[in-house]
Formats: sequence, structure tokens, C-alpha cells
Amino acid sequence: MKITIVPDYDAMSLAGADRVTATLRRRPDCALCLPTGNTPLGMFKALLERIENGTLDASQAEFFLLDEYVGLDDNDPESLTGWLMDAFLKPAGIAPAKIHEMPTKAHDLDRAAAEYEAELQRFGGYELAVLGLGGNGHIAYNEPGATADSRTRVLTLTDESIEQARGYFEGRTVPTQAMSAGVQTLLEARSIVLLVSGAAKAEVLRAALQEAPTSNNPASFLQLASDKVEVICDAAAGSLLN
Ligand code: PGA
Repeated sequence: MKITIVPDYDAMSLAGADRVTATLRRRPDCALCLPTGNTPLGMFKALLERIENGTLDASQAEFFLLDEYVGLDDNDPESLTGWLMDAFLKPAGIAPAKIHEMPTKAHDLDRAAAEYEAELQRFGGYELAVLGLGGNGHIAYNEPGATADSRTRVLTLTDESIEQARGYFEGRTVPTQAMSAGVQTLLEARSIVLLVSGAAKAEVLRAALQEAPTSNNPASFLQLASDKVEVICDAAAGSLLN
């Protein structure tokens, strides 16, 4: 596995933006997924600058959402889709037809999840999966307990993730379920970039990379695809790595 440790958050953001840029220049019409959370905000800023100054064209790419709460409207300010729309997809001018949402409002969620997988395959699978790392080791919303062979599905959020989300929901009830691209779905990407920032993630990152793969820390399953994974972390997040 390639591990790139850079001095700080800004350098991590630029390195992440460089990987996305290189992928889109090589295959402008590829399918890719981008993470939500605070970690990718700097990368989005760098990508938006490149799109605005004409050095990057993202208009042909197919953007697949990684995860979404079940029971929220897209317009809900807390929805992950709405978040990615506001943080990147809208300011980047991505056409709605190029945005593939998690089908969390379908009547039959299992079937809809299978259709998400089928649609992803129609576009050749993720050329690039850019992921963030949850404090409990989740990638997308594959919470502890997720298996390496999991596919896109609805799963129950851990108490820790619900607690983490509570801040955003400002007193409103936090959903207890989400639909997420599965671990196996992610591992099949042609390349994977894991972005990690901050000392608070140092231990979960160390365990993910240096202990045996385990469902207790779903990010550790990235070791199963190590030849195509690059971890880009800042010095604080990488401080416990050998
Ligand atoms: P964060 O979230 O980037 O806000 O730390 C990461 C995650 O929970 O996946």
C-alpha cells in the first residue's frame, strides 16, 4: 500500500485534488465517488479552483454518491447528498444527469441497492474511490461489523456515529440507518485514495494499516486491495505509523 504522509491539511488536500485531477484527465467520463465530512473540504476547494480557472474539466464524469441516511429528504440540510451538492457538485456545475444518488427513497431498498450496483457497473465501476476515515474506522458508512464482502445495502448506524451526527442535526432526531456502498464495492475500484487528517484519527489509522484486517475497523479491509490503495494523510494523522 502506498502511504503518502504530507506536512499538513492543505498539503493533503492538494495531493487529493491532484489524484482526482489526474484520473479525470486520463478518463474524463469515468465513474468516481467522493467522500462527505470535513476532511475533503480543502480538496474540493482546490478542485473548484481548477475547474474555475479552466485547468480541469469534470463535466463528463459520473459521480456516484457513497452513502445516505435513510428517511431524509435530499433537500434536508443534513442529507449527505445535499451536503456533497453544496460542497462540490453544484459549485462545480455538474449536471444532474451525472449525479447518481443512493436510492434511499425506494420502496424496496434491497432491490434499489442492487440497482445502484448495476448502474455503477454500467459505467465501468468506480475508476477512483476517494474515501474519508470515520473515527470508528468506517469507510463510506460501513460501520464496525461490516464484512469485506459487503455490497451496497442499508445498515444500522452505531451509537458512536449517531452521537457524532447529533451535532449536525441540532436537536432533531438523527436517522438510525443509512445506505452505503459496500466494502467489496469499494475494493473493486480501480484505485482508492483514503484521506486522513488530524491527531484524533492517528490511532484508528494505525490500527487500520498495521493490524490484521477486521470488521471492527472496516478501513483495515483496504489492506485486501493494497496494490491500488494510496493513503494520503497529514503528519498528525500519520504520527503513529511505523
Ligand atoms: P470527517 O468524517 O471527515 O468529518 O472526519 C469522516 C467520516 O466520518 O467518514
